[in-house]
Amino acid sequence: MEVVIVPDATAGGELIAEAMAHLLRRTPDALLGVATGSTPLPVYEALAARVRSGAVDTSRARIAQLDEYAGLPADHPESYRSVLRRQVLEPLGIGMDAFMGPDGTARDVPAACEAYDKALAAAGGVDLQLLGIGTDGHIGFNEPCSSLASRTRIKTLTEQTRIDNARFFGGDIDQVPHHVITQGIGTILEARHLVLLATGESKADAVAATVEGPVAAVCPASALQLHPHATVVVDEAAAAEL
Ligand code: GLP
Repeated sequence: MEVVIVPDATAGGELIAEAMAHLLRRTPDALLGVATGSTPLPVYEALAARVRSGAVDTSRARIAQLDEYAGLPADHPESYRSVLRRQVLEPLGIGMDAFMGPDGTARDVPAACEAYDKALAAAGGVDLQLLGIGTDGHIGFNEPCSSLASRTRIKTLTEQTRIDNARFFGGDIDQVPHHVITQGIGTILEARHLVLLATGESKADAVAATVEGPVAAVCPASALQLHPHATVVVDEAAAAEL
């Protein structure tokens, strides 16, 4: 695992956007795994700026979703499909035909989860997976004590994650779904390059457990220590406990 400490979130965004741009120049049809939340926004902004300036061509790029709320209609403004369309696909000029994600509204959820894992493999696997981290060390929606070998499946959110995410639902925790579909930790570890971005002091404890703690299901992000090519990019505030 390599750890890169940057001065701030903007610098982290630039660094990761350049890594993505480099990948797309080498592999124009690369499959980029993307995450939601506030943390990755500087990455998407910096990559979109490169697209606008002609520094990178995304016309053949493909995008894969990390996780999704279960039961939220796909066109709900806070479904992760909608969020990614707004924050990633449209700014990067990538169409929905190049997008893949789990079906959060499927009647047969286990079948939908299995189908998504198969679709990822059939697409050749994720080339670069961008990850954020929850204050409790979760990646995707793999909450603490998720199996490190888990596959895409349904999970129940912890109270803390629902509190953290209530800001996207008008501050009303009752509007935050209880269930989600997430790529499993085992699924995430199959990406060829994992890049985790963490910014701000609220992530400092989770970052320390991820980087310096034991590999343990109690901190799902610690599974990155098992990956042959994992990069953790942290700003100085998130690095405070290292
Ligand atoms: C959600 C997402 C995660 C994300 C986390 C942190 O739980 N499922 O993928 O990493 O939020 O979000 P933020 O970056 O806003 O702190």
